[in-house]
Amino acid sequence: MAFPVERMRRMRSSENLRRLVRETQLSVNDLIMPLFVCPGKNVKSEISSMPGIYHMSVDVLVEECKLIRDMGIPGIILFGLPESKDPMGTDSYSATGIIQTALRELKREIKDLLIITDICFCEYTSHGHCGVLEQGTVNNDATLNLLEKQVLSHAEAGADMVAPSDMMDGRVGVIRSALDSRGYQNIPIMAYSAKYSSAFYGPFREAADSAPQEGDRKGYQMDPSNSDEAVRETHLDIEEGADIVMVKPALSYLDVIHRIKQEFKIPLAAYNVSGEYAMIKAAARNGWIDGEKVTMEVLTSIKRSGADIILTYSAKEAAHILNQKDYK
Ligand code: PBG
Repeated sequence: MAFPVERMRRMRSSENLRRLVRETQLSVNDLIMPLFVCPGKNVKSEISSMPGIYHMSVDVLVEECKLIRDMGIPGIILFGLPESKDPMGTDSYSATGIIQTALRELKREIKDLLIITDICFCEYTSHGHCGVLEQGTVNNDATLNLLEKQVLSHAEAGADMVAPSDMMDGRVGVIRSALDSRGYQNIPIMAYSAKYSSAFYGPFREAADSAPQEGDRKGYQMDPSNSDEAVRETHLDIEEGADIVMVKPALSYLDVIHRIKQEFKIPLAAYNVSGEYAMIKAAARNGWIDGEKVTMEVLTSIKRSGADIILTYSAKEAAHILNQKDYK
C-alpha cells in the first residue's frame, strides 16, 4: 500500500486516535528520584546548577520522601554529603555515617517507599576519587574490600536496594556474596553497568562536592566512544548477579540503552543525569524552550529507547504532570 491509499496522517488526526496507537507511555511507575542528604537540622539549600534540587538534612528528607511516596513514585536513590571526608572515605561505611543515619530514620518513618542507596566513594573521599587512591590511580581490589563494608553497613541500616556506581571490576560479585553471607539474599543490586566518563556529571559534582582533586575518572569509567564495551560490562554484571543494569548518562547514550535492551532481557535503568537536567532548566529559565514539554519528551525518548526505569531529577515534576486527570 502506498500513497494515496496509505495516508500516515489519518491516524494522527485526533487525540483519541493518537492515544490508541501510542507505542510508549511514560508512567509514574518508571521513575526514581535522586536525593541529596546532608548533616544538620532543618537544612534545605538549593543546588545552584540544579534548580529545584536541594541538599536536605534528615528531618527535611523524611518529609520530602513522604511527599514523593504520596505522588506514587516507587523509589528514591540517596546520595550523602558527609560531615567530613578523608582518603579512605570512612563515613561511607560508618554505622553513624550520613547515609546510615538517614536510612534508619527513613525506615522508621516510611514503610512503602523503596530506598535505594548509591554505592561509591567519591562523595566521601578527600581526593574525590571513587576508591582507594594509590600513586594517582584507584586500586581496584583494595576498593572492593571497602565496597563490601559500605554495602553491609547500608544493608544493616535498612537499604532496600543497593546501586554500585564506582565501576570497579568485580564489584557486583563481591557485593552479592557479601550480602548473601550475612542473610541479605533479598536485597537486589542495581548495577551502574555502562557508566561513561561524562562531562554531563558536572552539576552533580557540585551537588555532591565530589569532583576529583586531581586527574579524572577515565581510568575506571567508560570511554564515550564505545558501545561494544557497554555490552561486555553489562554481561559481566549480569553474570556476577546484578538484578537491574543501568546505562548512564541517558540522552547521549540512547543507542546504548537500545542495544543493551535488545541484547539482554533484564530490567534496564537509565540515569537522566544532572547535566541533562541542568540544560533543560537553563534553557527554560531563559524562555528558550518549554521546560515541562521538553522534560516529558526527553523522558519518553529514554523509555522508547528501551529503559524500563528512569532515574531523574525531574521525577517529581513528571509525576505531577502524569497524575493530572487530563494528562493524555
Ligand atoms: C558516583 C556518581 C556520580 C553520579 C552518580 N553517582 C558522579 C560521578 O561519577 O562523577 C552522577 C549523577 C549525575 O550527574 O546526575 N557516586
